[in-house]
Amino acid sequence: MTLHSFSDENDFWKATLKSSLKIIEEALKKHGQVRIGLAGGSTPKKLYEDLAQENLPWQKITWIVVDERYVPDEDPESNRHMLRQALFEPAHIPHENQVTFDITLSPEEATIGMSQKLKRLEEARMPLFDLLILGAGKDGHIASLFEGDPHLHTKELAYTVHAPAEYKTTQRLTLSLRILSHSTRGLLLLKGKEKRSVLKTLEGEPILPLTALKSLTAKVPTEVFFCP
Ligand code: 6PG
Repeated sequence: MTLHSFSDENDFWKATLKSSLKIIEEALKKHGQVRIGLAGGSTPKKLYEDLAQENLPWQKITWIVVDERYVPDEDPESNRHMLRQALFEPAHIPHENQVTFDITLSPEEATIGMSQKLKRLEEARMPLFDLLILGAGKDGHIASLFEGDPHLHTKELAYTVHAPAEYKTTQRLTLSLRILSHSTRGLLLLKGKEKRSVLKTLEGEPILPLTALKSLTAKVPTEVFFCP
């Protein structure tokens, strides 16, 4: 795991974009296609907006959301809403290159549908992700993999889970730790002083459990970018 700390926000975004593009280029050279896992939340939105401005072979890139809040597409809480605004619409991403949860289904049916999509992608080529772009909560959760989640080590590819009560939208749909670990490279974006405890824990201080994040970074070479 490589840690990059920035005091200047512009340098932070330039570095995350540069690393993303480098990994995308490597995957295109190697596979002729790229699969990218996309965290929701607010932090990565700027990176997605920057990627949308690049001249990329969009038809060769598949974008896979790593978790969703079970709300209508138009709801500002929706990750798909954020991705549509930041990336899918500005870059005119073909619909077939967008792998998202179908929230018109029940939560269980939506996770079954997502699992089927992921299974097909893995049958075509493993590991699933060439690049996994993650944010982390101030408690260190990634995707919707919260501390104490009984499914944390499930063999399922995706499942429904309830976020802790302090979150506005508690009904969540998430990819599992197992499938997120099927990644060649990871980028973790930590933006804001409230994320410093995640960084310090990754640097070795016993502050947070980081059960999911530590398990992932033990398997997936990950670059961590921090800016207060
Ligand atoms: C979500 C995300 C989640 C997010 C963290 C950080 O749907 O909320 O997938 O894992 O990355 O909660 O969120 P912020 O970037 O908004 O701090």
